[in-house]
Amino acid sequence: MSEDRCIITVGLDIGGRQPAAEILDAAGFVWTHKYGAPHWADDATHAALQGMSAILAGSETFDANTLRDATALKVIARNGVGYDKVDLDACTERGIVVTYTPGVMADAVADLSMALLLGAVRHIATGDRIIKSGGYDVPIGEDLPSMTLGLLGCGRIGAETVRRARGFRMRVLVHDPYVAADDLHKLGAEAVDRDTLLAEADAISLHVPMSADNANVVNAQFLAAMRPGSYLINTARGGLVDEKALLAALQSGHLAGAGLDCQATEPPVGVSAELVALDNVVASPHSGSLTITARIRMAELAARSMVDVLQGRVPEQIVNHEVLAKLSLS
Ligand code: DGY
Repeated sequence: MSEDRCIITVGLDIGGRQPAAEILDAAGFVWTHKYGAPHWADDATHAALQGMSAILAGSETFDANTLRDATALKVIARNGVGYDKVDLDACTERGIVVTYTPGVMADAVADLSMALLLGAVRHIATGDRIIKSGGYDVPIGEDLPSMTLGLLGCGRIGAETVRRARGFRMRVLVHDPYVAADDLHKLGAEAVDRDTLLAEADAISLHVPMSADNANVVNAQFLAAMRPGSYLINTARGGLVDEKALLAALQSGHLAGAGLDCQATEPPVGVSAELVALDNVVASPHSGSLTITARIRMAELAARSMVDVLQGRVPEQIVNHEVLAKLSLS
């Protein structure tokens, strides 16, 4: 049994299994489970990380302050693709490897993007509310093949969303300066500049990571340039959207609706709560990757990354590559 102790802050039981626990047990690591939270108070984080060598992490914040007492910590294995709450410089500085789980959750998130699109365009939640309260009516919707979908960003989740939208025979436009037009063409999408995306898409789906540059990228100007009667779908991060501006665009009817899996504050309070309460918004509680298949694969990949680092190997999906210069992993 190794001296290294591990902590898991996300759900352990998935579809009748405990995939992360199975991997850590097989490798001989002692682990504990304690649910984290997006806003773990600093003192709770300090206490939880004390003496820990590895964490399988949910959406907690890891910065120089929260890492203060984490003197044994060697790896933060994020259970997800976003690492916007992890201060990579602080981790690198302290020799902590940060890993993530790209790829294995792309199907789940792309499925939800399409579900929210259909939910918004066909007023599914509205129809459900109406029928349950004794009514039998719903606003008219639209056929997806008659619509153009625009993607802002096209990584792995974006690519799966394009495949699904093409399966629905939608025209698909993508604005992503980091992806070659040829590759988009092979997926069945057209590469366009941002102005064209906003002017021609009937629905825009966000697939860019959260970063300082992308904060509030969907602002009043962006929304005003979207087609009247169009839709916004967000399965990426709430912070990409200026929520006050989105609220105004939805209330004025400039946007017909939105499908939001993420809010700027989660669980939603203030403007985020006002947004999810709107009749023309279909919302979900940041559950894009919440499928049995995705969560098993994410837990397995994250747990393997913990074991790799603790056993002296370079993990499969590392975020802060610079840290390797400070370590002797092989
Ligand atoms: C991610 O991949 O970062 C999702 O938001 C789940 O944590």
